[in-house]
Amino acid sequence: MSDKGLHVIIVGAGLAGLATAHGLKTNNISHVIVDRESGPRDRNWGVTISWAHPLMKKLLPDDLYANLQSCQPDISMDTKAAGKECILIRDGASGETKIEAHFPGVRRMQIQKTKKAWAVGLNIKYGKKLSNITTTDDGVTAHFEDGTEESGSVIIGADGGTSSVRKWLLGDLATSEVLPYAFMNFPFTLKTEQALWLDKIMNPNVDVATHPKSMYLGLFLLDKPDLSRPETWIFYILVTWPIKTEEDKENSGDRLKRLRDHMDGWADPYKSVVEWVPHDVEIKPDWLRIWHPKPWDNHGGRVTLAGDAAHSMTFHRGQGGNLAIKDADEFVTAMIDVRDGKTTLKEAMDKYDVGVVERGQEVEISKKQALAFHDYANFDNSPVMKMGIKAAGT
Ligand SMILES: Cc1cc2nc3c(=O)[nH]c(=O)nc-3n(C[C@H](O)[C@H](O)[C@H](O)COP(=O)(O)OP(=O)(O)OC[C@H]3O[C@@H](n4cnc5c(N)ncnc54)[C@H](O)[C@@H]3O)c2cc1C
Ligand SMILES: *[C@@H]1O[C@H](CO)[C@@H](O)[C@H](O)[C@H]1NC(C)=O
Ligand SMILES: *[C@@H]1O[C@H](CO)[C@@H](O)[C@H](O)[C@H]1NC(C)=O
Repeated sequence: MSDKGLHVIIVGAGLAGLATAHGLKTNNISHVIVDRESGPRDRNWGVTISWAHPLMKKLLPDDLYANLQSCQPDISMDTKAAGKECILIRDGASGETKIEAHFPGVRRMQIQKTKKAWAVGLNIKYGKKLSNITTTDDGVTAHFEDGTEESGSVIIGADGGTSSVRKWLLGDLATSEVLPYAFMNFPFTLKTEQALWLDKIMNPNVDVATHPKSMYLGLFLLDKPDLSRPETWIFYILVTWPIKTEEDKENSGDRLKRLRDHMDGWADPYKSVVEWVPHDVEIKPDWLRIWHPKPWDNHGGRVTLAGDAAHSMTFHRGQGGNLAIKDADEFVTAMIDVRDGKTTLKEAMDKYDVGVVERGQEVEISKKQALAFHDYANFDNSPVMKMGIKAAGT
């Protein structure tokens, strides 16, 4: 290390970047976060947090941790009190339960509320899109499209599934794989009676189904802007099926019609909800992208990855959010050891990188789960049926 002292540059203010920043702040380690966005993005979704709870307690300031419930889609939901510390998988043709995978304390967190709450008190520079990285013997510099730069000791690329830091590290090897499934992901509201019915009947965390016709459909709550007015409640659907037609491949045209054309043989709640979706709902084109980590040269311990940048997986086992927090915790631990002189930066980063790549085995497990949701006959052999939603290897 140079005598300039340890200074961390975090690229990306998503779950991984924000958790890392809080952990560094808690431990008084100098850092900055940059993000290419200048304001909140319109895309919003939920993540399932299960085994990462104790790690959030370590990383976040006490008041933020105590108020995690305010980051939920439904801020009034206490899964423990409601007896709903589980996710639900049904048979799409009958609506019957296939499995309830339990996890103590499991909760959904809405990504926009979480980003907003976790940004408070951090040094975040927005409008900084990473364009290049340069390293020297005693440091590393992140260059941004607006011509500015940040210099420090180490860069952690927490810049998501299409990470620029990953691209810088690995070139073409950083390109993600697109799974051959039609994929739709869209929010909608319902009429008062319909929203009340769905809210009562659905699992509040994850309510998804595998259908014998080779199709996956999930219902989720995104937000309850006004708890007393069900017509304001926002739900969303995730749906996937293997691409068979040119239309699916092109991923264009009237997507709601294409979805409805696929709904024969579905039971409630899915059947009715798809019928009730407002006809003018917007369904943007989307793809299921994954990336298996491949070991990278960390340039003397100067550049590494975390979260989706390090391992992008589909949502089928609900692990992405948990792993983002785990990476943050491991990185912060490494930085504490470097700061305290227990190890060199190079040694600490080599060790961190081994761990992050190993945790990336979840990409393959989640891919298996994605395939299993479209292979009804063999669903009982799928990872969720065997290991639930706990961390791989535990
Ligand atoms: C549409 C969608 C739906 C999802 N649904 C689920 C789900 O249902 N369940 C689940 O468990 N997980 C889901 N995930 C995955 C989960 O949200 C992630 O695993 C988790 O949020 C980890 O986030 P991250 O911090 O690694 O990356 P992100 O949250 O993607 O954050 C990356 C940040 O980096 C910034 N950035 C990107 N490029 C640059 C650059 N060049 N320069 C500067 N900044 C940059 C971005 O603006 C962004 O703020 C979903 C993800 C998406 C995108
Ligand atoms: C935090 O670090 C700064 C700079 O290294 C130092 O001046 C300060 O005393 C530290 N504070 C605590 C609480 O350790
Ligand atoms: C990044 O920086 C290196 C070293 O200065 C340079 O060779 C390379 O062309 C730069 N790449 C881009 C995309 O600007």
